[in-house]
Amino acid sequence: SRNIRLAVIPGDGIGIEVVTEGLKVLEAVGTKVETTTYDLGAKRYHETGETLPDAVLDELRGYDAILLGAVGDPSVPPGILERDLLLKLRFQLDHYVNLRPVKLFPGVETPLGKARPEDVDMIVVREGTEGPYAGAGGAMRRGTPYEIATQESFNTAYGVERVVRYAFDKALARPRKKLTLVHKTNVLTYAGDLWARTFDRVSLEYPDVQTDYCHVDAASMFFVTQPERFDVIVTDNLFGDILTDIGAAIAGGIGLAASGNVNPDRTAPSMFEPVHGSAPDIAGQGKADPTATILSVAMLLDHLGLAEESARVEQAVADDLVERQTGWTGRTTHEIGDDITARVAG
Ligand code: NAD
Ligand code: IPM
Ligand code: MN
Repeated sequence: SRNIRLAVIPGDGIGIEVVTEGLKVLEAVGTKVETTTYDLGAKRYHETGETLPDAVLDELRGYDAILLGAVGDPSVPPGILERDLLLKLRFQLDHYVNLRPVKLFPGVETPLGKARPEDVDMIVVREGTEGPYAGAGGAMRRGTPYEIATQESFNTAYGVERVVRYAFDKALARPRKKLTLVHKTNVLTYAGDLWARTFDRVSLEYPDVQTDYCHVDAASMFFVTQPERFDVIVTDNLFGDILTDIGAAIAGGIGLAASGNVNPDRTAPSMFEPVHGSAPDIAGQGKADPTATILSVAMLLDHLGLAEESARVEQAVADDLVERQTGWTGRTTHEIGDDITARVAG
């Protein structure tokens, strides 16, 4: 098969550790991959003041895909690496779909107790380029008792429609064909109104998709009490961020949650990364679970049209997860990576 040109951004903290394992698995798949590593993150920021130089961004546009670990470090003020590196990548590469499966694998323990894998099998289509992440903001009289801080949510008809359409297509392709809009239309009356009207209008073109609506607070509850309610969810950037950490928890933990920042129009490379962050509390100790990154590699392969290879990686993870049930725990990041790699290599 053809050569994949992959840009790798390990980033910070456990990002570096889990990406090493993800690449090991990718290599074992047997597809020819040419990787180039970019040292973006806290270290480069401290050394040069750079987060994502324009020349690097332009170079990244030339790859087939990007694999990212995580960014963010306690030594850098919050927001710098998150906004000027990670969000800049998502915005500039037009990753308007942030695809986050919430899937309970057989044998995996969930805090939901009696939930079965068929009860927790959904996919969150999180909008990736707008909402509160992209809105204007500011502070007046900062540091005084009279301070006023604003942070707007930015939503365009174009931006909402394209992600809603993507979600309808996704729902149509799944057996249950159910799509739930999650928002907060009872309070966010401008943004919510745009989302609800767009959702209802587009739904007319998808008579085979069953639609539903949930306020985000209720959806958070139903994730825990009735996850079987959900098939595909489409939601705003911030609601999707929060919901998918809950999703990770109910599907066995944040160490298993994969994601893809997808540019469906393929005008720029899509970027795959675990849902979790750089986990400074466990960084450098070999404790991080690389499974989320490995499953993100599976999503990457699928995105590049390598469905068989993707399925092989996912199956290797599924088999590994069944083994964990038997008390086979306490493995290091490397050991988990090695074991899954061995299964992929067959
Ligand atoms: P986090 O996801 O890094 O960690 C939350 C908790 O989950 C921690 O206790 C951590 O040890 C644990 N955890 C995370 N990943 C794990 C794994 N693979 N295996 C085992 N345990 C794991 O979230 P946080 O603590 O809120 O954020 C830390 C930093 O990461 C911040 O700078 C934040 O901005 C950044 N962040 C980056 C991304 C990203 O790059 N996509 C995502 C989330 C947070
Ligand atoms: C995630 C993270 C990011 C987000 C942060 C680090 C900008 O939490 O990928 O879920 O909020 O999207
Ligand atoms: Mn998050």
